[in-house]
Amino acid sequence: MLSYAIVSLAMTSAALGVALPHGLVSSSASWCQGLGGGAFDTASNFTVAAYDISGSNANSTGAPLVLTETSTQGSDVYMAFATYATQPDNTFASFSLSQGILVPNPGNTGANITDLSVSSGDSPSFMASTDGDDSNIPSAAQVYCAVANTDPDGGDQCPILAVNNDTGMFSVCTSTSGDSSGQDIIVFEAAENSSDYDYNSCTPVHLHLLGLD
Ligand SMILES: *[C@@H]1O[C@H](CO)[C@@H](O)[C@H](O)[C@H]1NC(C)=O
Ligand SMILES: *[C@@H]1O[C@H](CO)[C@@H](O)[C@H](O)[C@H]1NC(C)=O
Ligand SMILES: *[C@@H]1O[C@H](CO)[C@@H](O)[C@H](O)[C@H]1NC(C)=O
Ligand SMILES: *[C@@H]1O[C@H](CO)[C@@H](O)[C@H](O)[C@H]1NC(C)=O
Ligand SMILES: *[C@@H]1O[C@H](CO)[C@@H](O)[C@H](O)[C@H]1NC(C)=O
Repeated sequence: MLSYAIVSLAMTSAALGVALPHGLVSSSASWCQGLGGGAFDTASNFTVAAYDISGSNANSTGAPLVLTETSTQGSDVYMAFATYATQPDNTFASFSLSQGILVPNPGNTGANITDLSVSSGDSPSFMASTDGDDSNIPSAAQVYCAVANTDPDGGDQCPILAVNNDTGMFSVCTSTSGDSSGQDIIVFEAAENSSDYDYNSCTPVHLHLLGLD
């Protein structure tokens, strides 16, 4: 009886207490653990922007992000987030979230782009096949979640992206390797000893999800 009352109270406050963007439903899936009642794991058609949490931004939304090719292996291509400012190509510039999977919208390319699991010190990355042979492509990783700001007094003005249950560990860093060399890319838990990017260039950011309201 008591536990029923507690569950019922928790459900009521989850339904009333939190302002999610229109039409979105809060999620407590394993990939949203610890992220609170503003967490959601399914949303369609948003863009992503990097907002400098140390405070130097041109505006309140942040620098728009797109996908860039980082390397190829046979007919497989690997991609990561880069700033549009350093990779001005909007082919892959909008995304959806589907039960923890971050899905780049293929636009008119028809490509199936799969998100990969994200390791500390690496770029959140994606893989696609250029010849329609998906046999090397792993299943999509359910590791992403989004968190709407539920604090009326402050915080980010838009929902922010989490990976591995963490919203706070993304950086923009200048890539020093592969096809994205010289571009500003997104890294998770930037590591001092990486040979893929210049650690000294890294700036901590939140990844804002735009266009959901
Ligand atoms: C996504 O939204 C943009 C406007 O923000 C619109 O132009 C585009 O057609 C939408 N794409 C899909 C797949 O709904
Ligand atoms: C915000 O600033 C970035 C530069 O950091 C710019 O590319 C972007 O278009 C601006 N967004 C808006 C909505 O003005
Ligand atoms: C994308 O996936 C669908 C469904 O699995 C498949 O039918 C289609 O051939 C794939 N397209 C490419 C370009 O891999
Ligand atoms: C998130 O945390 C839960 C609980 O600790 C864990 O089971 C899950 O694997 C984590 N998910 C990711 C993507 O790190
Ligand atoms: C960086 O150091 C960590 C531990 O200190 C190690 O696990 C990782 O493999 C190193 N990475 C590179 C690219 O050397």
